[in-house]
Amino acid sequence: MSDTLTKVTYQTFQQSKSYFGLAHKTLSSQLMNLIHPPLTQKRKSLPKEVLFKFQQKMNDLLEADWQDAEKGIYSKNLLFDNPWSDFFRYYPLVWLDLPQIWERSKQKKYQDFSPEIETDGYPSYYVQNFHHQSNGYLSDDSANLYDLQVEILFSGTADPMRRRILAPLIQGLKPFDCVAPKQMRILDVACGTGRTLRMIRGALPKASLYGVNLSPAYLRKANQQLSDIPGELPQLFQANAEHLPYLNDYFHGVTSVFLFHELPAKVRQTVIEQCFRVTKPGGVFVICDSIQMNDSSEFAMLMESFPEVFHEPYYRDYTHDDLVERLEKAGFENISTQLHFASKYFIAHKPALS
Ligand SMILES: C[S@@+](CC[C@H](N)C(=O)[O-])C[C@H]1O[C@@H](n2cnc3c(N)ncnc32)[C@H](O)[C@@H]1O
Repeated sequence: MSDTLTKVTYQTFQQSKSYFGLAHKTLSSQLMNLIHPPLTQKRKSLPKEVLFKFQQKMNDLLEADWQDAEKGIYSKNLLFDNPWSDFFRYYPLVWLDLPQIWERSKQKKYQDFSPEIETDGYPSYYVQNFHHQSNGYLSDDSANLYDLQVEILFSGTADPMRRRILAPLIQGLKPFDCVAPKQMRILDVACGTGRTLRMIRGALPKASLYGVNLSPAYLRKANQQLSDIPGELPQLFQANAEHLPYLNDYFHGVTSVFLFHELPAKVRQTVIEQCFRVTKPGGVFVICDSIQMNDSSEFAMLMESFPEVFHEPYYRDYTHDDLVERLEKAGFENISTQLHFASKYFIAHKPALS
């Protein structure tokens, strides 16, 4: 396929995901308005000029994604990676789950778990119905629906946003150019269903990949999603990011996507310190999470309503938190940030041994 045709195909692919997300959100809001009108009042409609700015930022994100593939940072095939069979299989369940989500939201039930779900042993901040999800992060159904829900929320841009970590990650691995590709170790903290590890595998086909997450159900899903890609299977481990089960200075690169807004402030610091501990001197740590209050006036209205509409108890605090200061406090240096659409990136380096 010629480059122009591939680019048009990529843009069409993204546009259809965006229309799908929009159609789903519009239909589900209308239905919610019929069944639970008070819930709709929490959602504020955005002014036209703000929507226009969103569209521009989304287009910039997709252009950056295309450019990185064009530069060979990752293969163009990665641009089209999508768990299609899961999407078709689980989309009806997204609708079937909605009445419970609305009921939970209406009744402000934030720690609502089925009796068969084992909640003992998890930190209390984690035992929550994040996004009003049935059984929080602790059931197989939740893991099956997660990618689809995130794609709907971000209008199909979740993976393009995840892929923005790849260029800084690869750049940050440059000090280890003499290390054999197979010896390069990368850890994804809070790997969820494995989407970020899939993206990293697309850019670093030979590296040894590791992922930790607290939820066994999400790890099972990640294992399923990662086992069909060529290359060695990433090593997945059930662990709390506050106590990473790895030796000091073990990883050349560490990443974490969409975790920090779901942690209380104190835990954010602990996790950053753990990431510092396991990163090799000279190695890189890349965070991707939501943009913050002082980054964008256009997104401010959304950032204000998001935690209430989606039950994100630590999001508001996160949007005002100074993560650069936290990274410096842990010992990282040479810290830079980037913004792409709804996400912010922190690229931090562990000082090399002198
Ligand atoms: C919003 S999801 C992001 C998942 C994934 N990184 C992605 O890109 O979609 C947050 C994930 O963090 C995990 N998580 C939350 N707190 C954690 C902790 N203290 N230790 C390990 N994983 C945690 C949850 O189980 C969930 O899978």
